[in-house]
Amino acid sequence: MIDRGRLAELLVAEERRFVETHPRSAALAERADGPLLAGVPMPWMTRWAGSFPVFVESASGARFTDVDGIEYVDLCLGDTGAMTGHALPAVSAAIAERAGKGITTMLPSEDAIWVADELARRFGLPQWQFAMTATDANRFVLRFARHLTGRPRIAVFDWCYHGTVDETLAVLEDGRVVPRPGAMGPQVDVAVTTAVVPFNDLEALDHRLAEGDVACLLMEPALTNIGIVLPDEGYSEAVREITRKHGVLLVIDETHTLCAGPGGATRAWGLEPDLLVVGKPIAGGVPLAAYGMTAAIAERLTPLMLTAEADVSGVGGTLTANAMSLAAARAALSSALREEDFAVAIPLAERFTGGVQSVIDRHGLPWNVQRLGCRAEYWFCPPPRDGAAAAAAVDEELERLMHLWTLNRGVLLTPFHNMALFSPAHSEADVDRHTEVFGAAVDAIVG
Ligand SMILES: Cc1ncc(COP(=O)(O)O)c(C=O)c1O
Repeated sequence: MIDRGRLAELLVAEERRFVETHPRSAALAERADGPLLAGVPMPWMTRWAGSFPVFVESASGARFTDVDGIEYVDLCLGDTGAMTGHALPAVSAAIAERAGKGITTMLPSEDAIWVADELARRFGLPQWQFAMTATDANRFVLRFARHLTGRPRIAVFDWCYHGTVDETLAVLEDGRVVPRPGAMGPQVDVAVTTAVVPFNDLEALDHRLAEGDVACLLMEPALTNIGIVLPDEGYSEAVREITRKHGVLLVIDETHTLCAGPGGATRAWGLEPDLLVVGKPIAGGVPLAAYGMTAAIAERLTPLMLTAEADVSGVGGTLTANAMSLAAARAALSSALREEDFAVAIPLAERFTGGVQSVIDRHGLPWNVQRLGCRAEYWFCPPPRDGAAAAAAVDEELERLMHLWTLNRGVLLTPFHNMALFSPAHSEADVDRHTEVFGAAVDAIVG
């Protein structure tokens, strides 16, 4: 149904419009090309839809303004890092206050206790520690799992994403575990470290874990990084049963699925992880992640924390759990990501899916839109049931056009797929603006 020639023409026109309307970003991108590798401070920033990234002047609530003075509705929210909304006043105040009192000392602050208590209340796990990023937290829990079980491998789902954790950058290819396409200079042979199973396939999981060499299954309750792939009815409960049956620890990564509610999908769906990781927005955008665990796991890990070699255990970091991150987390968790915040954000995501679906229906397209809490995502295919089907359905050209089209009309989508995230700072008018822009894009593409 997609005329590729027409799509290519539209892309050229949108790129021209982008360049013409962003002269200051263009000039900064040219400057950045000198001192910054590939012209960007972080590799992923080369992947935005325009030929250079938009440079940001400021961000507040659900909006940001670029250096050309253009204001955008932000449906990316720093790919979840700013799920609270940008520049939350309580977080800004806490950072300012803490910065004046010392940022990092490698000693604990009282805020650490408050934040751990709050995470325990939200997720139902009694003991916690902190990491700088969700990637770090995942690396640490994988170490714990191997240490506690004495087993060499970890298991993940095909096309999962858990950060830049070496062992998790693995996919299945003809039944073999291979490095994920694009994984640079693999540090480890993932065929040796990792078992990969398709999401929503209980038989494959049971079969693989029965081999007895897997320490833990690291999973998102729903895949969110290859688009949203929701679990089948009863799947999560069956996964827990299978992991228990084979003595495999269950690690749930709530970094993105925190969009399901204040205690993530774990609380919303009654999941029972042995260990849980959460990162990105918990400190309102300041780097901080956390890992929690059951009392049984904590009891076994505590002696390890007390060894003379705790500093070289492979867990922790000099700036980790610094006073500023924890002050920011206390402020963020006291004033955001609460029941009342999701009560505003989730209906906005529902409105988004309704709007997108109405455009899809109007054109009779075989596309679909999925939602998990305050996160929503549209696809150019029927809903995939696993990561491989999701990956196979990616249409980079079409995606690029949708991103550039919306960007040129003041709406930023999350890069790498077609995702929108809502905070209490968004409004119904923001959602409707996206529906209008999305509808116009589809009209232009399919006529
Ligand atoms: C589920 C999940 N876990 C972990 C991470 C890693 O987070 P970070 O890049 O902040 O380390 C991500 C990043 O997208 C994620 O989606």
